Amino acid sequence: MATTSEEREIIRRILDHEANGTTDMLPAVMDNPINHYTDPEQLRQEVDVLFRNFPLVVAHRSELAEPGDFVTHDDTGVPILVTRTDSGDIKAFLNVCRHRGARLQGEPCGNARRFTCPYHAWNYDLDGKLRGMPQPVGFDGIDREDHGLVELPAYERFGLVWVVPSPQEREIDIDAWLAPMAEQLEGLDLGNLVIFKKWALYKDMSWRLALEGFHESYHFCSAHRDTACSNYLDNQSVWDNYGPHVRHSVPLPHVTKLRDQSEEDWEYRPYFMTQNYLFPANFVQAMTDHVYIHTIIPTGPGTCAFHCTMLVPDASQTNKGERYWQANHDVVRVVFDEDFTIGEGIQKGLSSGANDHFVFGTFECGLHFGQTSINAAIAGEIVPPTR
Ligand code: FES
Ligand SMILES: [Fe+2]
Repeated sequence: MATTSEEREIIRRILDHEANGTTDMLPAVMDNPINHYTDPEQLRQEVDVLFRNFPLVVAHRSELAEPGDFVTHDDTGVPILVTRTDSGDIKAFLNVCRHRGARLQGEPCGNARRFTCPYHAWNYDLDGKLRGMPQPVGFDGIDREDHGLVELPAYERFGLVWVVPSPQEREIDIDAWLAPMAEQLEGLDLGNLVIFKKWALYKDMSWRLALEGFHESYHFCSAHRDTACSNYLDNQSVWDNYGPHVRHSVPLPHVTKLRDQSEEDWEYRPYFMTQNYLFPANFVQAMTDHVYIHTIIPTGPGTCAFHCTMLVPDASQTNKGERYWQANHDVVRVVFDEDFTIGEGIQKGLSSGANDHFVFGTFECGLHFGQTSINAAIAGEIVPPTR
């Protein structure tokens, strides 16, 4: 993959920081009130805005490879059914029968030609159209066109399947929405990677705490002292703020070798871990040779779901085998556990009254950017562009 001008600039910034013992810094610390992690009313606003009107990653394209493939998704509180139609499109629907509201598809994934409601067997096709029902004489006069599944905005971009969990009056322009991150996402070629592992964790911590773990690297050499610390330069990240999306580039120690190369020969990927925040709750975390997709969703006050998919090159594209990827997976799981243990501890301590706000340091730049964007979205100042 060719090195982009953005990546060359990131390398220059990091080499400067490394030479000078500095890092990216903002002019002042920022306070974040504790009610952002505890208040049910605050959470209700976050769910109503962030988790109803913005695209969330729900699957990798390989999970919906063939016509008839489907997945269901429930953690936003909205029952979602996503299908691959016969024409190859991705569609998403409320997973709710239009007769009397039964849950239509109970399985997490599978392949089907029709979705038949378990209650009275109304059935729907992959496009959500109502196709039939037993004893239709009892429903003479209803307009079948009006009783198809309720559609949600769904998109396939950069090898990922995105769904907006509530019907929208206007069509969201997903390309405009993701445009600032497009060059990088394109370069990661996510659609041609394969799933090595996929898992979901349910944690007793605000979704915000889970999110914040990706926004700074200040914690690496304490929280991850025996794991991630030695893999990266200590607290020398750079951030590119595309408000509301953020690229957070964390350099590996051997990035200093690039000083001895001409800029034309620079490669970015072998020297960085990149934590791409795709507002409001998605991360594409690019390692040097594989990628993690994370989506963090509130499930209640002080609880969240953490969905993670590990994508690796197809076996024919690499000489790295099962054991190599498994070892990477195992380390990452330990690192995440280290974060979650701390996050659940923070959540437990919130009611103690020790803090009425948290303070974001001047070099915890991603925390400032993420917080500012969440506030702006709740205030209606950030909305996905529409066509
Ligand atoms: S509720 Fe689905 S068929 Fe009756
Ligand atoms: Fe961490």
